[in-house]
Amino acid sequence: MEIRIVQGSITEVESDALIVNLFEGVTSPGGGTGAVDRALGGIITDLIASGEISGKLNKTALIHTQGKIAPKRVLVVGLGKSEDFDYIAAGKVSGTAARFLREKRARKVTTIVHGAGIGGLDAKDSARAVVEGAIIGLYDGDLYKTLNEDKPSDIEEFVIVERDSAKIAEFEAGSREGQVLASAANEVRDLANEPANRMTPVILAERTQEMAVKAGLEIEVLDQDRMAELGMGGLLGVAQGSTQPPRLIFMRYRGKEGGNTLALVGKGLTFDSGGISIKPSEGMQDMKYDMSGGAAVIGAMKAIAELKPAINVIGVVPASENMPGGSAYKPGDVIRFYNGKTTEVITTDAEGRMILADAITYAIKQGATHLIDIATLTGSCVVALGHDITGVMGNNREFTGRLMEAARLTGEKCWELPLPPEYKEQLKSEIADFKNIGTRWGGALTGGLFLKEFVEDLPWVHLDIAGTADSDAEEPYRAKGATGVGTRMLAMLAVLMSNE
Ligand code: BES
Ligand code: ZN
Ligand code: MN
Repeated sequence: MEIRIVQGSITEVESDALIVNLFEGVTSPGGGTGAVDRALGGIITDLIASGEISGKLNKTALIHTQGKIAPKRVLVVGLGKSEDFDYIAAGKVSGTAARFLREKRARKVTTIVHGAGIGGLDAKDSARAVVEGAIIGLYDGDLYKTLNEDKPSDIEEFVIVERDSAKIAEFEAGSREGQVLASAANEVRDLANEPANRMTPVILAERTQEMAVKAGLEIEVLDQDRMAELGMGGLLGVAQGSTQPPRLIFMRYRGKEGGNTLALVGKGLTFDSGGISIKPSEGMQDMKYDMSGGAAVIGAMKAIAELKPAINVIGVVPASENMPGGSAYKPGDVIRFYNGKTTEVITTDAEGRMILADAITYAIKQGATHLIDIATLTGSCVVALGHDITGVMGNNREFTGRLMEAARLTGEKCWELPLPPEYKEQLKSEIADFKNIGTRWGGALTGGLFLKEFVEDLPWVHLDIAGTADSDAEEPYRAKGATGVGTRMLAMLAVLMSNE
């Protein structure tokens, strides 16, 4: 899909469909929507009066223009209540409109930018959100479907039309950034949607290698022998029950001489059966998504290589399967990590923290000054926050605040959870430094507390994406399956940090 910004009048630029918008409660539209309304003899005002158009978020109404204006159709999409409007809504609205119009066989779409200037939303960031929303909205995870008789063809052109020449440069900049971020997120979705038989640790490393070479990132892949030399007992322990060998994928982006190094560490469990502490079979197929954190790091590194912020960034992805093979690690085993600390394995299903512990140490040894880890870590986080909100835990108010700001800009909903020091008691072991789990209550927090033991005194944020990495429901603005969550906010964080 080609994305362009055109200066002109929305009623005069030809398209198969023009997207305009409306806030809930507005009876007489203004701005671009008002201009279209007038050109069409007040039809939008009439449809509002009759109740057919409500302005409720993501509700759509399609109007045929029959030659009265250049666009063949006008899609009025609801923005919801103006006081609730944010970049999340801007993206969803754009995604909803794009998905809807593809279904109506539109090939060239024109749109106005939803949000710019409303409720403190910035022009550049609003344009970015609209472009991201459309690219993410038009993705489908049908990697292996061969029978697609009814599939509409892709939208070929997506054109933002703006009358005010003063806004064009900002829209151009936002659009470019949006294309980089959203395309990276869609590549992450491709990686995560791959079934585990086609996305093993070795394949993930190969795919990352190809991406890194194209993007101009430095890359190194560690195999088992190297892990054994370094003493990465956590990653090796989890991997030993599988016939698929593990990999540790390391990427480096150099954006500046000296200064900070942001480290992104992502859980790359290509399949989590639970191991000897095996999971119930119902829903186990979704554990192919357990490498979504790792995929998000890979995608974020790609986006960073394209956006070229002035900061150094490293990406570390420990990749493994968690299987109950004859040589699998077992409950009661004691594991020694790369940094020398030891843990007693209570359940083999708490494998994410085992592989992340070694990866975090690796990131520190590679010069990290700031750490983010991203992982489908706990079902407990899904219970707490559901499927739309990522759990955030951290040890440094300012750094956590920056991550939350990045996520606000990219419209990825996050909520901070605490790391109560008193819950650390739960991780005490008789035989080793820690146990690998606490009680079932507050499991997301003890997961975070476990990882905190490995970050030394660096500013660190832990993102638990167990609920947000994939979606079982098709939404009007997004396909089912992997969501690519985290990709955009992590790249945006690098951009924000480079501006300081
Ligand atoms: N990959 C799972 C977490 C998960 C659960 C992701 C549901 C997505 C949806 C993780 O490895 C796991 O098994 N976590 C355990 C932790 C527990 C043993 C402390 C869990 O959530 O039950
Ligand atoms: Zn897992
Ligand atoms: Mn598990």
